[in-house]
Amino acid sequence: MHAKPREKITGRQHSLKLAAASAAAAGPEVLGEGSPLATAGEPLRILLVEDSLPDVEMIRHILGEAGREVALVAVETREAFEAELNRRPPQIILSDYWLPTFNGSKALEISKRVAPQIPFIFVTGVLGEEVAIEMLKEGATDYVLKNRLSRLAPAVSRALRESEQRREREQAEEKLRRSHDQLRALTGHLQIVREEERTRIAREVHDELGQALTGLKLDLAWLAGKVPGTKVLQEKVKSMSAHIDETIHAIRRIATELRPGVLDSLGLAAAVEWQAADFQERTGIRCEVKIDVSPEAAPDQELSTACFRIFQETLTNIIRHAEATRVEVHLAQNERELMLSVRDNGRGISEREIVHARSIGLIGMKERAAQVGGEVFFFGLPGRGTTVTLRVPLHAPAAVAESPAQP
Ligand SMILES: Nc1ncnc2c1ncn2[C@@H]1O[C@H](COP(=O)(O)OP(=O)(O)O)[C@@H](O)[C@H]1O
Ligand SMILES: [Mg+2]
Repeated sequence: MHAKPREKITGRQHSLKLAAASAAAAGPEVLGEGSPLATAGEPLRILLVEDSLPDVEMIRHILGEAGREVALVAVETREAFEAELNRRPPQIILSDYWLPTFNGSKALEISKRVAPQIPFIFVTGVLGEEVAIEMLKEGATDYVLKNRLSRLAPAVSRALRESEQRREREQAEEKLRRSHDQLRALTGHLQIVREEERTRIAREVHDELGQALTGLKLDLAWLAGKVPGTKVLQEKVKSMSAHIDETIHAIRRIATELRPGVLDSLGLAAAVEWQAADFQERTGIRCEVKIDVSPEAAPDQELSTACFRIFQETLTNIIRHAEATRVEVHLAQNERELMLSVRDNGRGISEREIVHARSIGLIGMKERAAQVGGEVFFFGLPGRGTTVTLRVPLHAPAAVAESPAQP
């Protein structure tokens, strides 16, 4: 296809003259500080695809002059090229374009397939502009013409530096990704631990303290009957009993705030309804709830908890930020997903608030949803309210998924 005349540097003398000239021209540049050719200790491993021996020697000489020991392996057939790539991958590949039985574009293709990270520079007699552009598109790092070999050392130097930078960047990205994964796992773990802890404390506070106080109240009543005391004494017993009642009430409230029992006993839908009623009573903001969940398809506890906590956080935000007078809640579930939407008629959250790094509450909701494989969306219109939507895909129950197809 590219039947171009082969142009080789002819003769040893010419080569050396050129090399000397190029070394002189390129000297200060390639020997400068920070040049990988000048600084690194190990010999630079180069795989050179080249059939002309004088050219091989010349390239070896030029790179040697640039200040770094070079371990150069020259090949001129496809078999030798592949064998060398597999035996010991070089740090850089230099390749002629026109070869008797092999060609540079094939070498490039192989190297991109086998070892895409190794920089690949064409060092060639003539390379038409179109071919050069095509080769760069195919992944070549650079190309150097043989009649301008003064460019070779700087080109090699730059290619090595860039590939080193790319490697460092990839490592940093990989590290970042891993630490992000770990952070997510840790967050998930903390959520579970926190929820278990809350459930346990709620139960203990409710059962232990509740029972102790109830016992105390009974004892007090018994005592009042035994001691036919004065009016003052009777009054005292009465006020103590009332005090115990208040404490029992407070304990129930604290336990419920820690973890609403209704969530565990009656499930998510009941807990959402209970929370909405409580919200309306406390704030005076009208809160309407619509539930489209069939009781037999109740989500599991992890999902219910995540959904309920997101709902609570959304209501807290409405109290704190929305200036709303009305809230509509819709909980729906089919066999594919669970959906909760909470819409208020307040001032409307802005795009900036949604994406702001300090919106920790929103970030927490997103993270909580992600833990159960779902997503939360925030949408606001200025003066027309905010809608928070949670969507969590549900996995088909095993029994259904595994049932044999009907004939
Ligand atoms: N329902 C809402 N209506 C209007 N603005 C809201 C609403 N919910 C959240 N915001 C805005 O988004 C911001 C981020 O919310 P959040 O991350 O929960 O932080 P915080 O509640 O701690 O301020 C809030 O500070 C508020 O400005
Ligand atoms: Mg908040």
